[in-house]
Amino acid sequence: MTTPYSIAYTILQQCAQLGSYSEESECLTRRFATPPMRQVNAAVTQWMQEAGMSVRQDAIGNIIGRYEADHADAKTFLLGSHLDSVRDAGKYDGPLGVLTAIACVRLLHERQQRLPFAIEVFGFADEEGLRYHVPYLGSQAVAGVLAPHHLDQPDVDGITMREAIRTFGGDPDTLATCVRDKSDLLGYCEVHIEQGPVLEKSDIPVGVVTAIIGQRRMNVTFTGEAGHAGTVPMNLRHDALTAASIFIVLVEQKAQQHAGLVATIGQISVYPGASNVIPGKVTLSLDVRHADDDQLEQVCQQFEQMAREMAKKRQVAVTWQQVQQHGSIRCDHHLLDLLQRAIEQQGQRVIALPSGAGHDAAIMNHLTPMAMLFVRCYKGISHNPLESVKVEDVAVALSVLERFLLSLAQEQRTA
Ligand code: GLV
Ligand code: MN
Ligand code: MN
Repeated sequence: MTTPYSIAYTILQQCAQLGSYSEESECLTRRFATPPMRQVNAAVTQWMQEAGMSVRQDAIGNIIGRYEADHADAKTFLLGSHLDSVRDAGKYDGPLGVLTAIACVRLLHERQQRLPFAIEVFGFADEEGLRYHVPYLGSQAVAGVLAPHHLDQPDVDGITMREAIRTFGGDPDTLATCVRDKSDLLGYCEVHIEQGPVLEKSDIPVGVVTAIIGQRRMNVTFTGEAGHAGTVPMNLRHDALTAASIFIVLVEQKAQQHAGLVATIGQISVYPGASNVIPGKVTLSLDVRHADDDQLEQVCQQFEQMAREMAKKRQVAVTWQQVQQHGSIRCDHHLLDLLQRAIEQQGQRVIALPSGAGHDAAIMNHLTPMAMLFVRCYKGISHNPLESVKVEDVAVALSVLERFLLSLAQEQRTA
């Protein structure tokens, strides 16, 4: 007999299967438009079809399943999350949301139940931004906010985003076709692991998200002069790495002193990158987040000023490029309310919390009201292979999502 528990068990098995599709044999790394993404899309296509959905892959590589409504000209409700990963990732960040959504549709399909709205499940092709240092490529394309100049961006191997999309089977020249018409949309809901410790500390399996805090991502490049490690005296060097290193420490100090601020430098490249060559160029990523948009803006200006002062002092050049930004985004009150009631009906205590992590929901908010359901994860660990969820918690999330869709359906019928 299928129970929420047995379906949740299948969801975790599917997460494990997707977790085996990786660019690196020792760990899970799945960047945008790579061969393992193709394997993921093939598996997800099959599971969507088994759940009674028609499936298509759009021009950027998102995979989209559609379950029709009980009548023609009905509106559509969107579910989804992302299928790419960070480097050395866990198995649940992203896929859990896509697979829970598919399982929920499958439940309806097995009961031959149609709702007064269609459901579309999105498996976004990129949310983490690992390959091109630009996050949310999939949902940005769907929301129509992806800046075309990103297509010329090369990855670490010099492959431009345009070439990568084409090789993947997409079409960089027709990304406008990815844009979802918003006129028939009712909303978007994303299930995601919490990626923090609040639910575990409160001993609660799921929680609703109140808002997604604002974030900015920058690429910062320090350019000095490469030279011979043995011949250039210390006082005549223009070492890009030492300048960058001081900047990195200053960023950490500033963030530690500023309440609510988090700032991370997680990627750094040193050119030309040899032990006997003075570093001539360093590029680094800078990720800055704060719940207050004005403070976020101010701090980013201060960081830029710090980088410029540091470059001047060390006689190197600096360029500052903002690659992505969004302010804090509140989840939709009404959808939140429906989710909270679904949690109560499930016999659980309701806890509401903000998300420090970014999510596709923040971008889908350009198109339609959005809400998110968080699932407790082990010690709040995420972006780490130790990421883990309990099958019982996934079963609760599945039942809550189902109740949520059914109460939305009831509302539509009586509207
Ligand atoms: C997505 O994982 C993020 O960076 O918040
Ligand atoms: Mn992530
Ligand atoms: Mn995620």
